[in-house]
Amino acid sequence: MNNENIVWHQQNIKKANRSKLLNQKPCILWFTGLSGSGKSTLANALEAELFKRGRKTYLLDGDNVRHGLNKDLGFSELDRVENIRRIGEVSKLFVDAGLIVLTAFISPFKSDRQIARSLVKYDEFIEIFVDTPLDICENRDPKGLYKKAREGAIKNFTGIDSPYETPINPEIIINNSENSIEKNCDIILDYLIKHGYIQGNNDYTI
Ligand code: ADX
Repeated sequence: MNNENIVWHQQNIKKANRSKLLNQKPCILWFTGLSGSGKSTLANALEAELFKRGRKTYLLDGDNVRHGLNKDLGFSELDRVENIRRIGEVSKLFVDAGLIVLTAFISPFKSDRQIARSLVKYDEFIEIFVDTPLDICENRDPKGLYKKAREGAIKNFTGIDSPYETPINPEIIINNSENSIEKNCDIILDYLIKHGYIQGNNDYTI
């Protein structure tokens, strides 16, 4: 599309202003892993912990976003690329709004995760690989989708007849098959505190 007649308009209120107001450093916590690896459960639990600490967050979850913004997309390679492209752009806007964004998408392709990463500053993207082996995800099969995929009733299912490209250098690797959710939340919270995204001493209960 030709965008030559569209000119960027400077806005008065900048990310830095919002970040200061909200007392946090905005970022994207990009959870990636197989279906059934526990991305959504962990992201949900972590968001609740951040909320308890008075942090401003938003969780974008694959299944939920596919009910609205991305309901026109399926699971072909092209559709998955577009799914992640849109999520990257929405996350970028939310980071600009000063939020700590949590995204829970399989996001199976390295190149798409790289594109999402490249949309924001280098320290605004924290890739979290939820490393749960396929056999465990398949045994759990919380939605019965692996069974359907094995029977051939679902095509292009990640891990079965569509690839998952393991992250090479994620900021955080989560062992979701051995650690408790609480322990995994603590690992991520510690990372956020240590790297100055949130403060460790402003906990309060709502
Ligand atoms: S992604 O590959 O494009 O990143 P996304 O995270 O949005 O996937 O959606 C994955 C969810 O859709 C899975 O957790 C599962 O519930 C459901 N799903 C339905 N069909 C498929 C499929 N072919 N492959 C993977 N997940 C599927």
